[in-house]
Amino acid sequence: MTVDDRFTDYPFQQADPDTVVQFEVMDGPVTDWATDFSHMDEEYAANAHEIWDDLRERCPIARSERFGGTWLPTRYEDVAAIAYDTENFTSRHIIVGNFRPPMDLAPVGSVPPISSDPPFHHDARKLLLPAFTKTNTAKQEPTTRAFCHSLIDAFEGRDVVDAATEYAMHIPVRVIADMLGFPTEDTPKFKVFVENALEGINRSPEERQASTEELFTYILEQIRDHVENPRDDLTTYLINAELYGEKLSPQHVAGTMILLLIAGIDTTWSAIGASLWHLAENPEDRKRLVAEPELRATAVEEFLRAYAPVTMARLVKEDVELGGVKMKKEDWVLLPFPAANRDPERFEDADKVIIDREVNRHAAFGLGIHRCAGSHLARMELRVALDVWLDRIPEFTLADPDGVRWSTGQIRGPRALPMRIG
Ligand code: HEM
Repeated sequence: MTVDDRFTDYPFQQADPDTVVQFEVMDGPVTDWATDFSHMDEEYAANAHEIWDDLRERCPIARSERFGGTWLPTRYEDVAAIAYDTENFTSRHIIVGNFRPPMDLAPVGSVPPISSDPPFHHDARKLLLPAFTKTNTAKQEPTTRAFCHSLIDAFEGRDVVDAATEYAMHIPVRVIADMLGFPTEDTPKFKVFVENALEGINRSPEERQASTEELFTYILEQIRDHVENPRDDLTTYLINAELYGEKLSPQHVAGTMILLLIAGIDTTWSAIGASLWHLAENPEDRKRLVAEPELRATAVEEFLRAYAPVTMARLVKEDVELGGVKMKKEDWVLLPFPAANRDPERFEDADKVIIDREVNRHAAFGLGIHRCAGSHLARMELRVALDVWLDRIPEFTLADPDGVRWSTGQIRGPRALPMRIG
């Protein structure tokens, strides 16, 4: 039996309280989207596109005093300028919250490579890319397809199902569990981990710390199990991986596993759900994709553009002026790639969903050095999920339009999607 003592007594890393700056939670209703926005507001969840369109016209970089000071650019040009500018903006933390995270984890960051800045970022990312090539991703396709069929088999005899929680959500959860080599019976836990990490940002620091510790403890259990029983999966790959001639630090291994678990779930779940929502609302598009399966790959790109689920964030490194506003060191900046994707300066008919749009250089997977490492996997999951649904359930409508609920926070997608299928 091999024992890798890097993980034997590795404790949960508590942030040094002296380096964490805590802010008062301001969670009241928004008074003005240009000066007091909150991406945690229910109205933002339901009407994000209208809010971005309005802001782009009258105040392209909005400001809010919430979360200790946050900026929200809405033009493609500004979002891109910030995403490419790693000199003035750091990825030390990419989820806006009520505290400034500590600096002491640099250069690795809490969840590398997304939390790492250059030059370390390049090497941490390179380590991950071979696992997510198109070829490697294609290996997951047959099991993903079979799994989608099994989810639809379970709808047998029902007229109404929740396409978000009974279909879309399960697909990325199962795929990443298989890739990391985690027990499939643990998958219900993952949804809770993701919710805590991405949606629970207005909770107390103690609650947040407790949920992070729970996730960390789970990941460490999986690592220790893999140390004792190595197998052909991503966890064993990371345990054995080397950087600069040495094995990775335990923080690096655990952090990357946490990233992979969190980054692929809500995002892909949202993209599948939003695409099904669009097809339920637009019968002409639905009928066309049923009749012309060869168009589905092009349509997937348009769904990714129009309903891009992911907004990431940066912290300002030093005071900087951008797009006519003065940003201060340690201000948050949201990077709403979905708003950039709807900028009429960048896309013709930006507000229309055109399922056979030919030129579509959208930013759903981000821009610059942190561009999504899992984009081939995400595209495969989205394509297979829609393929199987459209082939098995060609006719469907929203069962209760008022029952549709969109998530708040940085990842946007339907979290309740009652669908009539019979
Ligand atoms: C539709 C689904 C997805 C969307 C829209 C999406 C979007 C994004 C975006 C916008 C970024 C850039 C973050 C930034 O600039 O800070 C990103 C990074 C990343 N994504 Fe995805 N993602 C999706 C699915 C996935 C999946 C399935 C995985 C793998 C399991 C994944 C793994 C990653 C990783 C590892 C990074 C960090 C890359 C780096 O920092 O170099 N994503 N994703």
